[in-house]
Amino acid sequence: MSAAIHKQPYGTTADGLPVDEYTLTNSHSMVVKIITYGGIITSISVPDRDGQFANVVLGFNNLADYETKSPYFSAITGRYANRIANARFTLNGVEYKIPANNGINSLHGGLKGFDKQVWSAREIHGDETGLELSYLSKDGEEGYPGNLDVKVVYTLTDANELRIDYSATTDKTTVVNLTNHAYFNLKGEGTGSIYDHIVTLNADRYTPVDENLIPTGELASVADTPFDFRQPKAIITDIRSGHPQIVRGRGYDHNFVLNTTNRTQPGLAAQVSEPVSGRTMDVLTTEPGVQLYTGNFIDATLVGSAGSVYRQGDGLCLETQHFPDSPNQPDFPSTVLQPGETCQTTTIFKFGVS
Ligand code: GLA
Repeated sequence: MSAAIHKQPYGTTADGLPVDEYTLTNSHSMVVKIITYGGIITSISVPDRDGQFANVVLGFNNLADYETKSPYFSAITGRYANRIANARFTLNGVEYKIPANNGINSLHGGLKGFDKQVWSAREIHGDETGLELSYLSKDGEEGYPGNLDVKVVYTLTDANELRIDYSATTDKTTVVNLTNHAYFNLKGEGTGSIYDHIVTLNADRYTPVDENLIPTGELASVADTPFDFRQPKAIITDIRSGHPQIVRGRGYDHNFVLNTTNRTQPGLAAQVSEPVSGRTMDVLTTEPGVQLYTGNFIDATLVGSAGSVYRQGDGLCLETQHFPDSPNQPDFPSTVLQPGETCQTTTIFKFGVS
């Protein structure tokens, strides 16, 4: 079997915009499906240790559900992924107010973030099959300054990797933080919880949060806390801990400070394995952080792609990113983008079996 990409109509948004779905296949029959609405990955089909394929990302089987109910299932998240405290920040002495959509904070780009936009698509043919999505976020959209030209390229390699290359340029000083909000379940979506998934994180420190899930600014050691994933550990081990940070997040909903320092070549951020299926996933990134979110707010009100109801803990996210609230935290790596610069990041999800 050789690598291929094909396109089919997926649906029409409530605003009347047509949405397509692209199916990328590699020579090992791994299949990734992406829609132009939100750049959402609707399916990643990978084999288990016996060669049985399953879709390992949570999602829906129709556009209307993605438009109205989705907790950012596998969507491109921006202009600023994660939280900005009090829905405001200051650049060059000017205060920008952005929509508060998460209590007093702004979350994942505001009311109509990149996850809710229809992106333009271009197929990439060659040794590797890819899909380039582009979107122009206008000056002032969701309160952010500057026309931001964004490109996200999804590439499916023959090494069973899904590589995501993000780039952005602006015509005014702005802030940018782009990620993909996939919820993984390596047993297959809709098969139950991720508590038995074994996770390793390449992080000696994490960013503790206040009662609004905003980092306090401290880079705390993970040693002797539920946040220590330096050795492989099942999620269940500490998720029921009474540690105040776990209580605050209702589980894991925290940014880890990656030990990697090379921001040009993707370095290992996380490894996940699921003992029953044997499926594994490595996450590599050029980003300085990764948010581990254990689907704490999923509450059995959503029916997933294959017809099962999703409950709390049915998927886990590893959102590679800059730290939450960086625009208001001068000591965090900067998310400011200046005209003339290109913000460029890469994240790789590599699938295998053990
Ligand atoms: C992120 C946040 C979570 C939650 C989800 C979406 O991961 O950190 O708190 O808002 O997105 O439900």
